[in-house]
Amino acid sequence: MAEIVTFGSATWDIFLKIPSGLVIKSKDFSSGFAIAFNLGSKIDLEDMYFSFGGGGVNTAFTFLNQGLDVAYCGSVGNDIPGKEIINLLKESGIGTDFIQRVDKPTNNSVIMNTSESERTVLAYRGASEMLDIEDVYWSDMNNPSWFYIAPLSGKLSKSTEAIVDFAKKNKIKVAINLGNSQIAMGIEKLGPSLKRVDVLLLNLEEASLLTHIPENDEIGIMSELNKIHNGINVVTKGADGALVSDKDVLYNAFACRVKVVDKTGAGDAFGAGFVSGLIKSNNNVEWGIRRAIANATSCIKVPGAINGLLKENDSFEDKIKIEKGKIV
Ligand SMILES: Nc1ncnc2c1ncn2[C@@H]1O[C@H](COP(=O)(O)OP(=O)(O)OP(=O)(O)O)[C@@H](O)[C@H]1O
Ligand SMILES: [Mg+2]
Repeated sequence: MAEIVTFGSATWDIFLKIPSGLVIKSKDFSSGFAIAFNLGSKIDLEDMYFSFGGGGVNTAFTFLNQGLDVAYCGSVGNDIPGKEIINLLKESGIGTDFIQRVDKPTNNSVIMNTSESERTVLAYRGASEMLDIEDVYWSDMNNPSWFYIAPLSGKLSKSTEAIVDFAKKNKIKVAINLGNSQIAMGIEKLGPSLKRVDVLLLNLEEASLLTHIPENDEIGIMSELNKIHNGINVVTKGADGALVSDKDVLYNAFACRVKVVDKTGAGDAFGAGFVSGLIKSNNNVEWGIRRAIANATSCIKVPGAINGLLKENDSFEDKIKIEKGKIV
């Protein structure tokens, strides 16, 4: 039976490699660049492929690769992508007993990459938000030791509390990576749930939104997160690595310098890598950070959110630099 259950979306991803000539400079966009083509034209693509993704599925693959027994709890459509996602999970050895099929198309993303590797995502959020928490076979879960809650979007965000409630009643540890819909609920609403989680994972922008502290005051953000709960806080910063607080101990982890091929799934690889490291080292935070950075680095070196994830015995943890200090 599963020792870890993941929650979050399951998506059918279509990756398109688009000609870099379509990228134009424009002051009308915050990045200074836009993708532009003539309305009504037909564009030849350089390459394309399909893959599976979504936070719930991506993180389940990290746990599987790390040799842990994992099940996914989420919903997919009554359509071909939904069927294919279930088949892939089953064939891979991820538990599918807690998946619901619903009358809405499976989540779908079109991910556009150029040779400069900036990605642009068109996302259809469909079936994933339809998971009916009341209908989950909780009694069949048989005491997993961890829940990993990847971002819950749309109306599923309202189920955050129910999932955390179940976990805490059953002495299950909780790692949660909040998404925008959950952050929009505000700390007043989320606070009681967050207070009880063991690991809270955010990127810097999300952490700033949640705490209302500007991104350049990183220590301020970490101290504020520490006030929300007694657990571990993880704030990722893309190419600048991550900050992790465990009570008053602050770890500053450096990212590895790599050529980024596709950043999709970096956050999921980091979060699930961190929790895998904790589980396998009996809660050694430094080991969690090393596995997280190694897994995220490996993920972004190849296309797709799950193709580059580390296997259990792959290792380059000793090359990762971590500074340790105190939050005063
Ligand atoms: N350009 C990069 N170079 C090296 N490592 C990176 C880069 N981008 C991301 N990473 C690694 O992935 C981790 C997570 O990335 P990031 O902070 O961008 O997460 P995120 O914003 O949650 O991503 P996602 O879009 O997947 O949700 C970083 O802490 C780092 O270890
Ligand atoms: Mg993220």
